[in-house]
This record gives sequence, C-alpha cells and structure tokens, in this order.
Amino acid sequence: MPNPEEVVFPSRRERFEDRRKEGQHRKLLDEFFDHATLLAVSRLVSRGLFDAVDYPISTGKEGGVFRATKGEEFRAVKIYRISNTSFRHLPPYTMEALRREASARNFGGLIYAWTRREHTLLGRLKAAGVAVPEPYGHYRNVLVMEFIGNADGAAPRLRDAHVEDPGRLYEDLVAAIGAMVRKAKLVHGDLSPYNTLFFEGRPILIDVAQAVEVDHPQARELLTRDIHNYAKFLARLGADVDAAEFLRAVGIESVGPPTEVTG
Ligand SMILES: Nc1ncnc2c1ncn2[C@@H]1O[C@H](COP(=O)(O)OP(=O)(O)OP(=O)(O)O)[C@@H](O)[C@H]1O
Ligand SMILES: [Mg+2]
Repeated sequence: MPNPEEVVFPSRRERFEDRRKEGQHRKLLDEFFDHATLLAVSRLVSRGLFDAVDYPISTGKEGGVFRATKGEEFRAVKIYRISNTSFRHLPPYTMEALRREASARNFGGLIYAWTRREHTLLGRLKAAGVAVPEPYGHYRNVLVMEFIGNADGAAPRLRDAHVEDPGRLYEDLVAAIGAMVRKAKLVHGDLSPYNTLFFEGRPILIDVAQAVEVDHPQARELLTRDIHNYAKFLARLGADVDAAEFLRAVGIESVGPPTEVTG
C-alpha cells in the first residue's frame, strides 16, 4: 500500500497550486483525512482509481470534494466526514432510506452506506443517460468519480456560471430531469443551481445521494420543489418558464405513490 500521507501530501509540493495555502492544507488534513480516511484513500490508490489528491475543490460541513490525478487524467474524490454531527439532521426521508441500506448500526456504517448509495445512484443515472459525473469506485467514506472541468479547474456551479442561452439550459434540464424521472425512476430532491455544474455550456447534476424512487410518498413534493428552484433561476436569467409546464415536461404525472382506485 502507498504511504497514505504521501498520497494526500505528495512530496512534489508544487502539486498544490497555491503555495500560500500550505497552512490550510494541514488543517484539511486534520479535518478530512483522519486515519481511517487516509487508509481508505490509499486503498483506492492501490486499486488504481487515482494516483494522488491534488487540492480541495470545495469543503463543507458534511464533506469535501478534491481534485485528484490519475495518469494524464483528473478525477473528483468526494470524502464524507466521519466525525460530523450535521449529518444526523438529514431529512427523515433520507435517514430512513439510509438506515435500510446500512447494515451497521454505528454512525460510520451509515456514512459508508451513504457513500455507496451515492455511487450506486450515479451509476443508475448515468445508465439512464442523465448528465451526471460517472462513478468510478468507492471505499468506506470515499467516492471517486469523473472530474467535471478541465486543466484550468473544476466547472463552476450553475449558480456562478455565465449562461449564454437560457432557452437551451431549460431544454437540457428538461432532458436530464426527464430521463431521471422516466428512465432512472428517481427524483433528486435537492436540485438547485448549487447542485448543478455548468460545463461547456451544459448542466451536469451532482450530489445525488438523497434521491428517492419515483413512488416514494414525498417524491412529488420533492420534484415540485426541485423544478421551482430552477424555474426561479431561469426567470432571473430572463427565460420565462412556466413551472407547471416544466413539471409536465419532466413527467410529474408518473411520480408519487400508486393511488388506490376506489368505488
Ligand atoms: N465531479 C465533480 N467534478 C468537479 N467538481 C465537483 C464534482 N462534484 C462536486 N464538485 C464540486 O464540489 C462541490 C460540492 O459537491 P457536492 O454538492 O456533491 O457535495 P456536498 O457535500 O453536498 O457539498 P455542498 O454542501 O457544498 O453542496 C460542488 O459544488 C462542486 O463545486
Ligand atoms: Mg451539494
């Protein structure tokens, strides 16, 4: 196995694009790369999923996303924090799905199940033709996926991107969410211009672990909220999108628990 600290802190220090951030990297190492996580990272390295972690793209309360290198290519590595408390405050519909999937009762077990879930759902979405990062593998609290971006850096979130053609964005969103609902039979449940990357003029949906099946009791409500988030954003861009029409276009009629026919 490679030396775990070497993977995250390669001796070729120039990997870190901004030398002034060295101090922050020590902090990151403490916050994200606890011993168990370092071991998980080096396990993935020995499985050939990536060679080294380069720099953080985004760090939040529940986890961080890092750029990694694999040969000439880039990867995105998402790490869920094990020592995290806000995770406990997930909406009940997600906790319930997670508990079902986690065989372990402890918190670490739940996080590993959550990581596996994100990997599985990304695979289902990719197979259905939805624009999401391709999942490459996972181990414990670490997920490896396609890096959305290029040598200049990660793609911006849709929220921060310059959108030339809001009409095409609307069409792309209808296609992506439509395939998600009709083919993958999933409702994302946390869609917004924050959980969407904008790369080469097209939206890519991310952060899918909390997605639910289309027949989930709350699926309709979640899809409605997701669509309203985008409709508001599109309106600000000057594209006048009717939310009801948007919902029809993505197939809301096939979402929700089966209704009992009475009488
Ligand atoms: N595959 C990827 N390629 C490039 N950048 C990515 C990728 N996945 C995630 N990111 C970046 O990392 C950020 C956080 O990712 P994500 O939303 O999946 O994690 P999160 O834990 O929910 O974080 P947050 O709470 O900030 O939403 C994204 O906003 C994006 O900037
Ligand atoms: Mg997110």
